[in-house]
Amino acid sequence: MSRSSPRVGLTHIDLGDDLRGNMAEEIRAGLTDEPKWIASKYFYDERGSKLFEQITALPEYYLTRAETRILERASDSIVTAAQPDELVELGSGFSRKTRLLLEAMQRLQVGYRYLPLDVSEEALLTASKSLARDYPWLEIVGVVGDFMSHLEDIPRDGTQLLCFLGSTVGNLDPDERAAFYRRVSARLEQRDRFLVGFDLVKDKRVLESAYNDSRGITAEFNRNILLVINREFAGNLPVDEFEHVARYVDERDRIEMWLRARRAIHARLDHLDLEVSLCAGEAIRTEISSKFTRDRAERELSAADLTIERWLTDEQCRFALATVAPGDRRQGE
Ligand code: SAH
Ligand code: TRP
Repeated sequence: MSRSSPRVGLTHIDLGDDLRGNMAEEIRAGLTDEPKWIASKYFYDERGSKLFEQITALPEYYLTRAETRILERASDSIVTAAQPDELVELGSGFSRKTRLLLEAMQRLQVGYRYLPLDVSEEALLTASKSLARDYPWLEIVGVVGDFMSHLEDIPRDGTQLLCFLGSTVGNLDPDERAAFYRRVSARLEQRDRFLVGFDLVKDKRVLESAYNDSRGITAEFNRNILLVINREFAGNLPVDEFEHVARYVDERDRIEMWLRARRAIHARLDHLDLEVSLCAGEAIRTEISSKFTRDRAERELSAADLTIERWLTDEQCRFALATVAPGDRRQGE
């Protein structure tokens, strides 16, 4: 792509109405289930996105630093190998680590467009404006959407590098992850690549402290999901009566995050016409964060006809970034 006619702009494709429509049904389904659960995408209102930013800087939360180290080392070779016209990013948040890939694109004069997708409109707009200022050569098309259902709506104009950083893939349960990989596989064209971050299985104490920080930011983040629900559905869930619980479940290789009622709770969500009652000690599951080995990642990806080309880890093998190619079982290519 020539640099002599830079294309600058910010287009905002808003798929948000669709999202809000689903929220009521999803919240109702979760809060009437046994055990109760809330889908983790609802953490990320403006406050939630900012709290998550604080989590990424916590001493206990090694994930962001480890992934950043890998990108510092490998961005050039990733971009050189993939030769993308466009960088697409799912769950982009404030797009901080993405800058390392964009800078590699700039250095190597590869690609011209960035398409971030996130449920958080605030994060998406803040990130897009700041990137447009810092990378005037870059065209930016922000998409407010759900990566589980709107992958097919992301525009395309050329070869794409599809990024999914932060081990957000680990926040999907195994069935969701399998469905997600199938959609990624269907979306990828022969020359596209998928760049996905995996947090790796490690000492349980290291894992648990990453989700139980000493400053209590993760606890605030966890409880924020109840503020979102109260605001959205005119509810009176007593946020401070819920305790943050995060523990590693060995049999499932994952952290589970819960909000546990300190006492019996009877609350109401007016807009859903829903009573929510919890016994003392009963908990609502708000997040899972699966931890991976290379074998597990490879097995799951290959079930969707996706193949790992490179497996890049940080020096301490805490985190891995995989570059993934579409397999060869597909017809007609
Ligand atoms: N990529 C960033 C942010 C990770 S946090 C990083 O690695 O640091 C997860 C991000 O995914 C948040 O910005 C959140 O708003 C977004 N997100 C969570 N669930 C989503 C969904 N179902 N669809 C789209 N975005 C989602
Ligand atoms: N993808 C991140 C992870 O699994 C999301 C995350 C980090 C998170 N800390 C959290 C989600 C605390 C909820 C609560 O590590």
